[in-house]
Amino acid sequence: MFSERIDRLTSSLVRDILSATQQPGMISFAGGLPAPDELPVPDWSSIPASAAQYGPSEGEPALREAIAEHARGVGIECVASQVLVVSGSQQGIDLVSKLFIDPGTPMITEAPTYLAALQSFELFGAVCHGVPLGPEGIDAGRLREVARETDARLAYVIPTFQNPSGTCYSAETRSAVARAADELGLTLFEDDPYRELVYDDVDRTPICARLTKTSWVYQSSFSKSFMPGIRVGYLIASPDLMPHLVRLKQATDLHTNRFGQWLAHGHLTSPGLAERLTHLRSAYSAKRDAMDVALGEHFGELAEWSTPPGGLFFWLRLRTPIDTRALLPAMLERGVAFMPGEVFFPTTAPESGYMRLNFSHASPEQMDRGLAILVRAVQETAG
Ligand SMILES: Cc1ncc(COP(=O)(O)O)c(C=O)c1O
Repeated sequence: MFSERIDRLTSSLVRDILSATQQPGMISFAGGLPAPDELPVPDWSSIPASAAQYGPSEGEPALREAIAEHARGVGIECVASQVLVVSGSQQGIDLVSKLFIDPGTPMITEAPTYLAALQSFELFGAVCHGVPLGPEGIDAGRLREVARETDARLAYVIPTFQNPSGTCYSAETRSAVARAADELGLTLFEDDPYRELVYDDVDRTPICARLTKTSWVYQSSFSKSFMPGIRVGYLIASPDLMPHLVRLKQATDLHTNRFGQWLAHGHLTSPGLAERLTHLRSAYSAKRDAMDVALGEHFGELAEWSTPPGGLFFWLRLRTPIDTRALLPAMLERGVAFMPGEVFFPTTAPESGYMRLNFSHASPEQMDRGLAILVRAVQETAG
Protein backbone atom coordinates (compact mmCIF):
# COMPACT_ATOMS: atom_id res chain seq x y z
CA MET A 1 0.00 0.00 0.00
CA PHE A 2 2.80 2.41 0.86
CA SER A 3 6.00 3.26 -1.00
CA GLU A 4 8.97 1.01 -0.30
CA ARG A 5 10.83 3.96 1.23
CA ILE A 6 8.40 4.08 4.16
CA ASP A 7 10.14 1.03 5.64
CA ARG A 8 13.31 3.09 5.84
CA LEU A 9 11.72 5.76 8.09
CA THR A 10 13.49 5.35 11.40
CA SER A 11 13.59 6.44 15.00
CA SER A 12 10.30 6.64 16.77
CA LEU A 13 12.59 7.03 19.77
CA VAL A 14 13.25 10.66 18.92
CA ARG A 15 9.56 11.43 18.58
CA ASP A 16 9.03 9.86 22.02
CA ILE A 17 11.75 12.01 23.53
CA LEU A 18 10.55 15.21 21.93
CA SER A 19 6.95 14.61 22.94
CA ALA A 20 8.12 13.85 26.50
CA THR A 21 9.88 17.23 26.58
CA GLN A 22 6.46 18.92 26.19
CA GLN A 23 5.30 17.50 29.54
CA PRO A 24 5.15 20.07 32.34
CA GLY A 25 8.07 19.88 34.75
CA MET A 26 10.31 17.86 32.41
CA ILE A 27 13.97 18.93 32.53
CA SER A 28 15.04 18.85 28.92
CA PHE A 29 18.59 18.43 27.70
CA ALA A 30 17.16 16.87 24.56
CA GLY A 31 16.23 19.36 21.83
CA GLY A 32 18.12 22.15 20.11
CA LEU A 33 15.53 24.74 21.08
CA PRO A 34 16.33 28.40 21.61
CA ALA A 35 15.72 29.54 25.20
CA PRO A 36 12.09 30.78 25.44
CA ASP A 37 13.13 34.15 26.91
CA GLU A 38 15.53 34.73 23.99
CA LEU A 39 12.80 34.58 21.34
CA PRO A 40 12.06 38.06 19.93
CA VAL A 41 8.54 39.47 19.65
CA PRO A 42 7.50 39.35 15.95
CA ASP A 43 7.29 42.76 14.24
CA TRP A 44 4.22 42.21 12.05
CA SER A 45 4.27 45.83 10.86
CA SER A 46 7.26 44.99 8.62
CA ILE A 47 5.14 42.69 6.42
CA PRO A 48 3.68 44.18 3.20
CA ALA A 49 0.02 43.43 2.40
CA SER A 50 1.16 41.76 -0.85
CA ALA A 51 2.55 38.89 1.28
CA ALA A 52 -0.97 37.45 1.38
CA GLN A 53 -0.66 36.48 -2.31
CA TYR A 54 1.33 33.54 -3.82
CA GLY A 55 5.00 34.42 -4.25
CA PRO A 56 8.06 33.27 -6.20
CA SER A 57 9.40 29.76 -5.52
CA GLU A 58 12.94 31.06 -5.06
CA GLY A 59 11.83 33.36 -2.22
CA GLU A 60 11.21 37.08 -1.70
CA PRO A 61 13.65 39.02 -3.89
CA ALA A 62 14.49 41.47 -1.08
CA LEU A 63 15.30 38.59 1.30
CA ARG A 64 17.42 36.81 -1.33
CA GLU A 65 19.40 40.02 -1.86
CA ALA A 66 19.91 40.44 1.90
CA ILE A 67 20.99 36.81 2.28
CA ALA A 68 23.45 37.05 -0.63
CA GLU A 69 24.98 40.18 0.90
CA HIS A 70 25.24 38.50 4.30
CA ALA A 71 26.82 35.39 2.72
CA ARG A 72 29.40 37.46 0.83
CA GLY A 73 30.25 38.97 4.22
CA VAL A 74 31.13 35.51 5.57
CA GLY A 75 33.24 34.69 2.50
CA ILE A 76 30.85 32.98 0.07
CA GLU A 77 31.09 34.53 -3.37
CA CYS A 78 27.51 34.55 -4.62
CA VAL A 79 24.69 36.59 -6.09
CA ALA A 80 21.00 36.62 -5.18
CA SER A 81 20.09 34.29 -8.06
CA GLN A 82 22.02 31.53 -6.25
CA VAL A 83 19.88 31.88 -3.12
CA LEU A 84 16.85 29.65 -2.53
CA VAL A 85 14.71 30.41 0.52
CA VAL A 86 13.53 27.17 2.12
CA SER A 87 10.97 26.22 4.77
CA GLY A 88 13.58 25.66 7.47
CA SER A 89 16.97 24.22 6.60
CA GLN A 90 15.43 20.80 7.19
CA GLN A 91 13.77 21.37 3.82
CA GLY A 92 17.18 22.10 2.29
CA ILE A 93 18.22 18.61 3.43
CA ASP A 94 15.09 17.16 1.82
CA LEU A 95 15.69 18.95 -1.49
CA VAL A 96 19.37 17.97 -1.66
CA SER A 97 18.37 14.37 -0.81
CA LYS A 98 15.87 14.40 -3.68
CA LEU A 99 18.45 15.81 -6.09
CA PHE A 100 21.26 13.36 -5.37
CA ILE A 101 19.97 10.17 -3.77
CA ASP A 102 18.52 7.00 -5.27
CA PRO A 103 18.22 3.67 -3.42
CA GLY A 104 21.80 2.49 -2.85
CA THR A 105 23.52 5.85 -3.55
CA PRO A 106 26.71 6.02 -1.48
CA MET A 107 27.42 9.28 0.33
CA ILE A 108 29.65 10.59 3.09
CA THR A 109 28.69 12.05 6.45
CA GLU A 110 30.58 12.84 9.59
CA ALA A 111 30.32 10.19 12.31
CA PRO A 112 28.44 11.31 14.35
CA THR A 113 26.14 13.61 12.39
CA TYR A 114 22.76 15.40 12.59
CA LEU A 115 20.13 12.74 13.16
CA ALA A 116 17.36 14.28 11.02
CA ALA A 117 19.77 14.61 8.08
CA LEU A 118 20.68 10.94 8.40
CA GLN A 119 16.98 10.10 8.48
CA SER A 120 16.34 12.06 5.28
CA PHE A 121 19.34 10.63 3.42
CA GLU A 122 18.41 7.09 4.46
CA LEU A 123 14.73 7.61 3.63
CA PHE A 124 15.75 8.25 0.02
CA GLY A 125 17.94 5.16 0.14
CA ALA A 126 21.44 6.56 0.68
CA VAL A 127 24.15 4.35 2.15
CA CYS A 128 25.84 6.81 4.52
CA HIS A 129 29.55 6.18 5.08
CA GLY A 130 30.78 7.88 8.24
CA VAL A 131 34.13 9.63 8.49
CA PRO A 132 35.07 9.91 12.19
CA LEU A 133 35.14 13.38 13.72
CA GLY A 134 38.22 14.37 15.67
CA PRO A 135 38.74 17.49 17.79
CA GLU A 136 39.63 19.53 14.66
CA GLY A 137 37.00 18.05 12.33
CA ILE A 138 37.20 15.13 9.92
CA ASP A 139 40.52 13.96 8.55
CA ALA A 140 40.78 14.98 4.87
CA GLY A 141 42.97 11.94 4.13
CA ARG A 142 40.30 9.62 5.50
CA LEU A 143 37.67 11.55 3.50
CA ARG A 144 39.63 10.87 0.31
CA GLU A 145 39.97 7.17 1.15
CA VAL A 146 36.28 6.72 1.93
CA ALA A 147 35.24 8.64 -1.21
CA ARG A 148 37.49 6.45 -3.36
CA GLU A 149 36.50 3.18 -1.64
CA THR A 150 32.75 3.87 -1.87
CA ASP A 151 32.54 5.98 -5.03
CA ALA A 152 30.56 8.58 -3.08
CA ARG A 153 29.78 11.79 -5.02
CA LEU A 154 28.22 13.78 -2.15
CA ALA A 155 29.47 14.70 1.33
CA TYR A 156 27.38 16.33 4.08
CA VAL A 157 29.29 18.27 6.75
CA ILE A 158 28.50 20.65 9.64
CA PRO A 159 31.91 22.23 10.25
CA THR A 160 30.86 24.99 12.66
CA PHE A 161 29.57 23.92 16.10
CA GLN A 162 28.58 20.58 14.76
CA ASN A 163 25.40 18.82 15.80
CA PRO A 164 25.73 16.68 17.93
CA SER A 165 29.38 17.08 18.92
CA GLY A 166 29.85 20.89 19.12
CA THR A 167 33.10 20.46 17.14
CA CYS A 168 34.39 23.44 15.17
CA TYR A 169 36.77 22.49 12.33
CA SER A 170 40.16 24.23 12.45
CA ALA A 171 41.16 26.54 9.58
CA GLU A 172 43.64 23.88 8.34
CA THR A 173 40.99 21.18 8.28
CA ARG A 174 38.56 23.48 6.43
CA SER A 175 41.17 24.11 3.72
CA ALA A 176 42.16 20.43 3.54
CA VAL A 177 38.52 19.30 3.17
CA ALA A 178 37.94 21.92 0.45
CA ARG A 179 41.06 20.74 -1.42
CA ALA A 180 39.96 17.11 -1.18
CA ALA A 181 36.42 17.89 -2.40
CA ASP A 182 37.79 19.89 -5.34
CA GLU A 183 40.24 17.15 -6.31
CA LEU A 184 37.67 14.36 -6.01
CA GLY A 185 34.84 16.31 -7.66
CA LEU A 186 32.83 15.57 -4.50
CA THR A 187 29.74 17.80 -4.17
CA LEU A 188 29.97 19.46 -0.77
CA PHE A 189 26.79 20.03 1.22
CA GLU A 190 27.67 22.33 4.11
CA ASP A 191 25.07 22.88 6.84
CA ASP A 192 25.69 25.93 9.01
CA PRO A 193 22.73 26.75 11.29
CA TYR A 194 24.76 27.48 14.44
CA ARG A 195 27.39 29.91 13.12
CA GLU A 196 25.91 32.98 14.87
CA LEU A 197 25.97 31.23 18.27
CA VAL A 198 29.71 31.74 18.77
CA TYR A 199 31.23 32.10 22.25
CA ASP A 200 34.99 31.72 21.71
CA ASP A 201 37.38 33.03 19.08
CA VAL A 202 37.44 30.37 16.33
CA ASP A 203 37.64 30.25 12.52
CA ARG A 204 34.13 29.98 11.05
CA THR A 205 34.89 30.61 7.37
CA PRO A 206 32.61 28.23 5.46
CA ILE A 207 34.35 25.40 3.62
CA CYS A 208 32.25 26.33 0.56
CA ALA A 209 34.07 29.70 0.56
CA ARG A 210 37.32 27.79 -0.07
CA LEU A 211 36.15 25.64 -2.98
CA THR A 212 37.37 26.47 -6.47
CA LYS A 213 36.00 23.74 -8.72
CA THR A 214 33.45 21.34 -7.36
CA SER A 215 29.68 21.84 -7.00
CA TRP A 216 28.39 22.92 -3.61
CA VAL A 217 25.38 23.72 -1.47
CA TYR A 218 25.78 25.94 1.59
CA GLN A 219 22.81 26.32 3.91
CA SER A 220 21.85 28.16 7.05
CA SER A 221 18.76 28.99 9.04
CA PHE A 222 16.94 31.68 10.98
CA SER A 223 15.88 29.07 13.55
CA LYS A 224 18.72 29.28 16.03
CA SER A 225 19.47 33.01 16.05
CA PHE A 226 15.95 34.34 15.38
CA MET A 227 12.77 32.17 15.50
CA PRO A 228 12.36 28.48 14.65
CA GLY A 229 8.57 28.87 14.46
CA ILE A 230 8.71 30.90 11.23
CA ARG A 231 10.33 27.90 9.45
CA VAL A 232 12.64 29.98 7.26
CA GLY A 233 16.10 28.93 6.18
CA TYR A 234 18.07 29.29 2.98
CA LEU A 235 20.44 27.50 0.74
CA ILE A 236 22.99 28.96 -1.64
CA ALA A 237 24.23 26.69 -4.41
CA SER A 238 26.73 26.64 -7.23
CA PRO A 239 24.95 27.78 -10.44
CA ASP A 240 24.90 24.26 -11.97
CA LEU A 241 22.65 22.99 -9.15
CA MET A 242 20.25 25.91 -8.81
CA PRO A 243 17.71 25.17 -11.59
CA HIS A 244 17.18 21.64 -10.25
CA LEU A 245 16.81 22.77 -6.65
CA VAL A 246 14.29 25.47 -7.62
CA ARG A 247 12.18 22.94 -9.52
CA LEU A 248 12.29 20.54 -6.59
CA LYS A 249 11.27 23.34 -4.23
CA GLN A 250 8.37 24.21 -6.51
CA ALA A 251 7.20 20.60 -6.57
CA THR A 252 7.47 20.37 -2.79
CA ASP A 253 5.59 23.45 -1.50
CA LEU A 254 5.56 26.16 -4.23
CA HIS A 255 7.34 28.58 -1.92
CA THR A 256 8.15 29.27 1.72
CA ASN A 257 5.48 31.20 3.62
CA ARG A 258 5.87 34.88 2.81
CA PHE A 259 5.04 36.22 6.31
CA GLY A 260 7.96 34.33 7.79
CA GLN A 261 10.22 35.48 4.97
CA TRP A 262 9.40 39.12 5.68
CA LEU A 263 10.04 38.63 9.40
CA ALA A 264 13.40 37.08 8.53
CA HIS A 265 14.12 40.01 6.21
CA GLY A 266 13.33 42.45 9.03
CA HIS A 267 15.75 40.57 11.30
CA LEU A 268 18.58 40.35 8.79
CA THR A 269 18.41 44.03 7.76
CA SER A 270 17.70 45.44 11.22
CA PRO A 271 20.13 48.12 12.47
CA GLY A 272 19.90 46.38 15.86
CA LEU A 273 21.07 42.98 14.54
CA ALA A 274 24.65 43.15 15.83
CA GLU A 275 23.46 44.18 19.27
CA ARG A 276 20.87 41.41 19.38
CA LEU A 277 23.44 38.78 18.41
CA THR A 278 25.88 40.08 21.01
CA HIS A 279 23.18 39.73 23.65
CA LEU A 280 22.28 36.21 22.48
CA ARG A 281 25.91 35.07 22.53
CA SER A 282 26.45 36.41 25.99
CA ALA A 283 23.24 34.79 27.35
CA TYR A 284 24.07 31.40 25.81
CA SER A 285 27.75 31.43 26.70
CA ALA A 286 26.74 32.02 30.35
CA LYS A 287 24.49 28.96 30.09
CA ARG A 288 27.26 26.96 28.47
CA ASP A 289 29.61 27.88 31.32
CA ALA A 290 27.02 26.97 33.95
CA MET A 291 26.51 23.59 32.27
CA ASP A 292 30.26 23.02 32.08
CA VAL A 293 30.55 23.57 35.84
CA ALA A 294 27.52 21.36 36.59
CA LEU A 295 28.91 18.62 34.35
CA GLY A 296 32.27 18.82 36.11
CA GLU A 297 30.54 18.29 39.45
CA HIS A 298 28.35 15.39 38.36
CA PHE A 299 30.16 13.69 35.46
CA GLY A 300 33.83 14.56 36.18
CA GLU A 301 34.67 10.94 37.08
CA LEU A 302 32.45 9.20 34.57
CA ALA A 303 32.79 11.03 31.28
CA GLU A 304 34.90 13.34 29.16
CA TRP A 305 33.96 16.22 26.92
CA SER A 306 35.31 19.38 25.28
CA THR A 307 33.74 22.70 26.07
CA PRO A 308 31.92 23.65 22.84
CA PRO A 309 33.12 27.02 21.44
CA GLY A 310 29.61 27.70 20.05
CA GLY A 311 26.27 26.09 19.28
CA LEU A 312 23.88 24.48 21.71
CA PHE A 313 25.28 21.10 22.78
CA PHE A 314 27.72 19.23 25.00
CA TRP A 315 28.79 15.82 23.71
CA LEU A 316 29.75 13.45 26.52
CA ARG A 317 31.82 10.32 26.05
CA LEU A 318 31.32 7.86 28.91
CA ARG A 319 34.57 6.30 30.17
CA THR A 320 32.71 2.99 30.49
CA PRO A 321 30.67 2.78 27.29
CA ILE A 322 27.08 1.65 27.67
CA ASP A 323 24.21 1.82 25.19
CA THR A 324 22.71 5.08 26.44
CA ARG A 325 19.38 4.31 24.75
CA ALA A 326 18.81 1.84 27.59
CA LEU A 327 18.76 4.73 30.09
CA LEU A 328 15.97 6.61 28.38
CA PRO A 329 12.71 5.04 29.66
CA ALA A 330 13.74 5.37 33.31
CA MET A 331 15.08 8.89 32.73
CA LEU A 332 11.86 10.08 31.10
CA GLU A 333 9.92 8.59 34.02
CA ARG A 334 12.14 10.54 36.41
CA GLY A 335 11.51 13.75 34.46
CA VAL A 336 14.78 14.17 32.55
CA ALA A 337 15.13 14.07 28.75
CA PHE A 338 18.43 13.74 26.87
CA MET A 339 19.57 12.44 23.47
CA PRO A 340 21.34 9.05 23.41
CA GLY A 341 24.46 9.32 21.27
CA GLU A 342 23.97 6.06 19.35
CA VAL A 343 21.28 7.54 17.11
CA PHE A 344 23.69 10.07 15.58
CA PHE A 345 25.97 7.46 14.02
CA PRO A 346 25.35 6.15 10.50
CA THR A 347 24.51 2.45 10.46
CA THR A 348 27.80 1.72 8.68
CA ALA A 349 29.79 3.16 11.63
CA PRO A 350 27.87 2.48 14.88
CA GLU A 351 29.27 3.61 18.24
CA SER A 352 28.06 3.50 21.84
CA GLY A 353 28.59 5.40 25.05
CA TYR A 354 27.83 9.00 24.06
CA MET A 355 25.15 11.46 25.13
CA ARG A 356 24.17 14.81 23.63
CA LEU A 357 23.11 17.39 26.20
CA ASN A 358 21.57 20.72 25.23
CA PHE A 359 22.41 23.64 27.52
CA SER A 360 20.19 26.46 26.21
CA HIS A 361 16.89 25.36 27.64
CA ALA A 362 17.29 24.28 31.30
CA SER A 363 17.80 26.81 34.11
CA PRO A 364 20.98 26.44 36.25
CA GLU A 365 18.91 24.88 39.03
CA GLN A 366 17.34 22.41 36.58
CA MET A 367 20.78 21.60 35.15
CA ASP A 368 22.02 20.63 38.57
CA ARG A 369 18.96 18.58 39.44
CA GLY A 370 18.73 16.93 36.01
CA LEU A 371 22.40 15.97 35.87
CA ALA A 372 22.22 14.48 39.39
CA ILE A 373 19.40 12.21 38.21
CA LEU A 374 21.19 11.34 34.96
CA VAL A 375 24.48 10.48 36.64
CA ARG A 376 22.73 8.13 39.04
CA ALA A 377 21.16 6.27 36.13
CA VAL A 378 24.53 5.97 34.36
CA GLN A 379 26.17 4.63 37.56
CA GLU A 380 23.40 2.08 38.07
CA THR A 381 23.64 0.83 34.48
CA ALA A 382 27.44 0.84 34.22
CA GLY A 383 27.57 -1.11 37.52
C1 LIG B 1 22.64 20.65 11.68
C2 LIG B 1 21.21 21.04 11.53
N1 LIG B 1 20.71 21.22 10.31
C3 LIG B 1 19.44 21.58 10.12
C4 LIG B 1 18.59 21.78 11.19
C5 LIG B 1 17.15 22.14 10.91
O1 LIG B 1 16.90 23.46 11.25
P1 LIG B 1 15.66 24.28 10.72
O2 LIG B 1 14.86 23.40 9.82
O3 LIG B 1 14.92 24.70 11.94
O4 LIG B 1 16.25 25.44 9.98
C6 LIG B 1 19.06 21.60 12.50
C7 LIG B 1 18.16 21.77 13.65
O5 LIG B 1 18.41 21.45 14.77
C8 LIG B 1 20.42 21.22 12.67
O6 LIG B 1 20.93 21.02 13.87
